[in-house]
Amino acid sequence: MCGIVGYIGKKQALPILLQGLRDLEYRGYDSAGVAVLDNGAIDRVREVGKVDKLTQKIGEKKIQGTVGIAHTRWATHGGVTEFNAHPHIVDGKLAVVHNGIIENYRELKIKLEKQSVKFESETDTEVLGCLIYQEYKNLERSGMKPGASDILRDAVRAALLQVRGTYGLVVMHKDNPFELVAARLGSPLVIGYGEGENYIASDATPILPFTKRMAFLDDGEIAVIDLGTPKISNLNNELVAKVLSNIDWDQAKAQKGGYADFMLKEIFDQPMVFEDALRGRLNMDEGTAVLGGLNMTHEQMREIKRVCIIAEGTARYAGLVGKYAFERLANLPVEVDYSSEFRYRDPIVNKNTLVFVISQSGETADTLMAAREAKRKGAFVRGIVNVVGSTIARETGAGTYIHAGPELAVASTKAYTNMVAVLILYALEFGRLKHTSLATGQRVLQALLEIPEKMNLVLKQNDAIKKIAEDCKNYKDVLFLGRGVNFPVALEGALKLKEISYIHAEGFAGGELKHGPLALVSSDVPVVAVLSKDQLYEKMKSSIQEVRARGARTLIIATVGDEEAKEVASDIIYVPDTMELLEPLLNTIPLQLFAYHMAVALGRDVDRPRNLAKSVTVE
Ligand code: F6R
Repeated sequence: MCGIVGYIGKKQALPILLQGLRDLEYRGYDSAGVAVLDNGAIDRVREVGKVDKLTQKIGEKKIQGTVGIAHTRWATHGGVTEFNAHPHIVDGKLAVVHNGIIENYRELKIKLEKQSVKFESETDTEVLGCLIYQEYKNLERSGMKPGASDILRDAVRAALLQVRGTYGLVVMHKDNPFELVAARLGSPLVIGYGEGENYIASDATPILPFTKRMAFLDDGEIAVIDLGTPKISNLNNELVAKVLSNIDWDQAKAQKGGYADFMLKEIFDQPMVFEDALRGRLNMDEGTAVLGGLNMTHEQMREIKRVCIIAEGTARYAGLVGKYAFERLANLPVEVDYSSEFRYRDPIVNKNTLVFVISQSGETADTLMAAREAKRKGAFVRGIVNVVGSTIARETGAGTYIHAGPELAVASTKAYTNMVAVLILYALEFGRLKHTSLATGQRVLQALLEIPEKMNLVLKQNDAIKKIAEDCKNYKDVLFLGRGVNFPVALEGALKLKEISYIHAEGFAGGELKHGPLALVSSDVPVVAVLSKDQLYEKMKSSIQEVRARGARTLIIATVGDEEAKEVASDIIYVPDTMELLEPLLNTIPLQLFAYHMAVALGRDVDRPRNLAKSVTVE
């Protein structure tokens, strides 16, 4: 995720900002920049790549000044270029750094272009900066003096009232050289309270070396940060009294947002980043999705006769969920394959085939080669990728980013749920051009909108799942069962467990049990089973009864209110009800937590499991 750091005080800002950027490196980023205000001028340096490169570029340049802002960027809108890096500067007077996504930036950009505003970058952030700048000028026209107290804050507020999306932003203006203005909606910001100086950052890490007294901005709050006590108000212009927290985390803990590991943090990030996957992509009136990156006309979409989904590991399991969605909503036959197999067989694809290549990193060698193979054969190849500007994203040239933010733990969690979300949106977009009704489309969208809240309800059961996992840590083998759309959930649950706990685990389709795997079942082999209240409920329940009859301990993932499920459960975790197609979005989370807590109980290095790499760039 992008990182922000800002300083105002009596010390030189540059060293504080550069150190702050280094402290934020753990969040993952592709470019960095810094802007310092001095003597009525803003000095800015930006660079693609690491903070060290930025520091080298600054070199001997004398950047003096005691007020400044800095940013590490993880690209969302626009490629990884210096022009797209933050801070953005408007008219040499206003500098802005921003985390989050401005959903309606295209409309705002058109409006501003009509007012002769020129843009240097492809980013939503520059649009936001220009909007604030225009509002500042409007306030001047209405009689406020440039540099007046409150003018910058009021300009920020006026701009934010026109914005849809999420933001954590900090601005400075050369006519208001003794303040920074910050605002938050959906993207965290923390203020550090010093003596005659103050700090602002996207998390506590860069502030900790200077002060432990901090206040976390809440959604809808705007802060004016000067040399005194920061003044915080809401979008209605009412002052807000903040309670200061004494943050005594060490830096490592702060980097993980207070969580013990990145994996746990990323599991808990899911409700938030899921919203980012949906943002600006739902058309409720038409009951459909709008995924701009598809780059196909409706005519071309209707001509598609077959879908192939190619990926590896967790991304492939997300693809398997996508298969159910495409078959049900779009009535299209779907084949899901390992990239490594696809590229070496003779895949039958042609101009009527749509090939999705799915990859968190966008660098997986087999997936990249499979994409090239499919392209060569004339298929429509579209990427579903997390890392903006990655090789797969560039080579496919079309497709959709999943907006999960940087995933730092080797085991993939939040990328999986966002991949599933994007696949469901694609399935719906195709379905609505054919046989899916408006009412069904709207039901799917509504159900998707309810997912983040329901994910939070699942996450609240973390302690209960931890207890079960600790109890199970001495088993040597674990089986996972699911059916229908929950079959891939079982596969993903088993993969998570094996990769981070090193316990042998396998996932099976419930109906396959009698055809072999049942021979493995005994009182030494617990079975984790997904028993959702859907069309396969009774069949799944009888599979669970079979394993219980052989003495297996059972952990059941059941639907809230299903009392009957207790009959077949040694342990039970309830998840909220949702549409059948969306069940994997909720049912996978307890399995991620189960794997995580098993691994912790066994003393494993959860974020860096043995023998595995985050990005597999070789065959
Ligand atoms: C599992 C995991 C791997 C990846 C796989 C594909 O937790 O992380 O199985 O899912 O290596 O990686 P990407 O999605 O980067 O192509």
